[in-house]
Amino acid sequence: MTTNNLPIIPSRTFADWKQMLHGFWPSKATFTEKDYPEFKDKVIIVTGGNTGVGYETVKSLAGSTKAKIYIFSRNKEKTLKAIEQIELEVAKEYKIKPIPIGFIQTDLGDLTSIKPAVNEFLSKESRLDLIILNAGVMMPPPGSKTKQGYELQLGTNVLGHFLLQRLLDPIFIKTSFNNPPGVSRIVWVASTAHQLAPLGGIFWEDKNFDKVPYNSNTKMQLYGQSKAADILLAKAWPRFNPDAKNVISTSLCPGYLQTELTRHSSAFELFLGKLLTWPRRNGAYTELYAAFSPNIKNGDYSISFGEPSHVRKDLNSIEAGDKLWDWCVKETNPYV
Ligand SMILES: NC(=O)c1ccc[n+]([C@@H]2O[C@H](COP(=O)([O-])OP(=O)(O)OC[C@H]3O[C@@H](n4cnc5c(N)ncnc54)[C@H](OP(=O)(O)O)[C@@H]3O)[C@@H](O)[C@H]2O)c1
Repeated sequence: MTTNNLPIIPSRTFADWKQMLHGFWPSKATFTEKDYPEFKDKVIIVTGGNTGVGYETVKSLAGSTKAKIYIFSRNKEKTLKAIEQIELEVAKEYKIKPIPIGFIQTDLGDLTSIKPAVNEFLSKESRLDLIILNAGVMMPPPGSKTKQGYELQLGTNVLGHFLLQRLLDPIFIKTSFNNPPGVSRIVWVASTAHQLAPLGGIFWEDKNFDKVPYNSNTKMQLYGQSKAADILLAKAWPRFNPDAKNVISTSLCPGYLQTELTRHSSAFELFLGKLLTWPRRNGAYTELYAAFSPNIKNGDYSISFGEPSHVRKDLNSIEAGDKLWDWCVKETNPYV
């Protein structure tokens, strides 16, 4: 499905455009800490919880639930500092002493680092109730690759999380059998940028965009591809795990937020971004709406700052999701 070996980007509907604009004028969060469950004795993983939206999500969880929370991230020093800071802020804002937050080191851009991280987690915990696959990278310098040679966003945002989830599935599914329906969830943090992804999500002819000229459009398409893939995987997970009937797998765009995600952006992009983005705390409300709202069903997609929305029509394709799933299985087989 190509024109001159370039990805085809489907035209957006009125509703798609509305969704893209909604990020600039999002609705105020109404599903907030007062609505979250106690989650006592439950265990939560948040990837990339050391900064940005993940940081705020961990803080909100630590301040308003009684769950044991683990941050899976790559930088030990940065994460331990973040945990210290979160614990201080929780004490100040929520007036409680939080349950100590755990740290497990893993680099989602290096598939060999994921199984040791899961083994470390399994040596500490015997249950897992909620997984927020939040870590992500956006528009890194052209040609950036993971340790195994995948385009950095595809490798990190998609394959890294896929393998992590795959290795966590046994303990997560086992836990879900003893939870009421809908309590066990996987939250795949995607983006409205999925609207810019190639038709069907992935440009299969050249997944790494090696032969696609790099410009302001194609770099968005490449990030959008990784986020479309997260949506496809969120929708595919229940199909490939039919016995896990109590689990909800869902995706979202947290909002347009002031975080470190723009660390690779130009000065002009940063200037524009500052004008058009919202404090990162709001993004946590979107993530925790997806994690806890009773209105969420398998495959749903939420937007800022906690309301239901839709995904670009071609990303509802079962065929597209299955093809991506099979590819992810094949690529991650050597690392399980
Ligand atoms: N900010 C927005 O406007 C926006 C909009 C739509 C979607 N999102 C999505 O929201 C999620 C959170 O992003 P953010 O805005 O909070 O950005 P951020 O501040 O840059 O945080 C990203 C997190 O991902 C981690 N990460 C990146 N590469 C990793 C790797 N190889 N292994 C492990 N962790 C890695 C980062 O770790 P380090 O600190 O070590 O780099 C950091 O903790 C992402 O999935 C992003 O795509 C954000």
